[in-house]
Amino acid sequence: ESSTDVDVSLIEPGQSIKEIFRKQPLFVRRLTPAEIAEANAVPTGSLRDAQSLADRTKEGHGDLLVTMGVCTHLGCVPLGAAEGENKGEYGGYFCPCHGSHYDTAGRIRKGPAPTNLVVPDYEFTSDTVIRVG
Ligand code: FES
Repeated sequence: ESSTDVDVSLIEPGQSIKEIFRKQPLFVRRLTPAEIAEANAVPTGSLRDAQSLADRTKEGHGDLLVTMGVCTHLGCVPLGAAEGENKGEYGGYFCPCHGSHYDTAGRIRKGPAPTNLVVPDYEFTSDTVIRVG
């Protein structure tokens, strides 16, 4: 299936954008230093789906979080990728369908979702462009 190129150079720290990848929402988010620190402060082993921020980002690009915008509970689109939307209790994304809260690394922290937001296969094709898929 087709891949999607995203120019990430204009995403400011603290900003997320919503793209479409294979007909599904894709979130691309530039984390602030505080959001990175928040993610790294959580003992990975305490998480429902144990992954570190480093596990979910590319080396040298630890501030760029790329996830599917699809709740792992029943597939609603979480809030938090657009300005002013509810980011939930852990400052990442919030799924209003049944109340799943994701943290700044897109990891499930509270609510019924069983796993973290999925990180799709992607790579940097330059310093500023990612190719997803
Ligand atoms: Fe997101 Fe149920 S679909 S909490």
